[in-house]
Amino acid sequence: MRKIGVLCSGGDAPGMNAAIRAVVRRAASLELETTGIRNGYAGLLRGELVPLGPRDVGNIVQFGGTILGTARSREFYRPEGRARAAQVLREAGIEGLVVIGGDGSYRGAQLLAAEHGIHVVGIPGTIDNDIPGTDATIGFDTAVNTALDAIDRLRDTAEALGRLFFVEVMGRSTGFLAAHVALAGGADQVLVPEVPTDIEALCRRIRDEVGKKKRSAIVVVAEGDDAGGAVDIARRIKDDLSIDSRVCVLGHIQRGGKPTARDRILAARLGARAVEALAAGRSGVAVGERKGVVVEVPFDEVFREQKPLELEFVDLAEKLSG
Ligand code: F6P
Repeated sequence: MRKIGVLCSGGDAPGMNAAIRAVVRRAASLELETTGIRNGYAGLLRGELVPLGPRDVGNIVQFGGTILGTARSREFYRPEGRARAAQVLREAGIEGLVVIGGDGSYRGAQLLAAEHGIHVVGIPGTIDNDIPGTDATIGFDTAVNTALDAIDRLRDTAEALGRLFFVEVMGRSTGFLAAHVALAGGADQVLVPEVPTDIEALCRRIRDEVGKKKRSAIVVVAEGDDAGGAVDIARRIKDDLSIDSRVCVLGHIQRGGKPTARDRILAARLGARAVEALAAGRSGVAVGERKGVVVEVPFDEVFREQKPLELEFVDLAEKLSG
């Protein structure tokens, strides 16, 4: 192999730049050239290629977002789209592709490998942490810390005025962010999609426990909770609470900002390993970190698994909310 490509796909996550840097620089140290592909699979279809040498990825490790841009592409998920993508890659002499993204992006990569023989390796990048095959995804730790910082600030005003805040964090179908943020932030309640929400019980608990014992409180709501988002839930129970309440939806703020040391280190290790895997002729795997060790997990295994939420975090957050 002489040349590899790298792209970001799906939602951006802080630490993607650190991963791009690691890919380009590890490739250079193995005497491989790297081509950056702008704007994900959509950009690949349009031939948006840019050569990336070690100096092109200097001074980016500290920034969120991605210097390559990212996108979600419908066209790539059609066979004709992937045929076009393979043609673009072949014409550019790119034999191996590193895809930084979520499991939807992995599925596209796997099809590209199966149908057109392009070697592919995935790097897990999403703030949702919902990709099996790795204990943490790139961006998760930063997003947890960003949301935590917001909660700490909300506590100041909540306590000052004696209010309850419903704080919505991202997580369309999983509650990793919510559970970690709630436990770290000392929330009184946490609502996640994995646990059915009983609105009446929630209301009772807030009335009986929070209302009587505390001046302020925080309820963390994952955006994909089965009972709805924070705005919905707050609207439904506002009038039954004995405490004044407000809603704060953190939204895309959680996606940006300086990646934490933890995310940068993860990105460095996974970026380097992805290139080593390609250089060694391996394909159809996602790199990840399990119990501190960098691993390669076949895509099939990643797709078969369901990453379990740490339900004990939810439980413990409530037990400690006293
Ligand atoms: O990247 C994952 C994620 O941040 C989810 O938590 C969220 O539901 C979604 O992306 C938002 O996507 P978009 O940026 O397209 O609004």
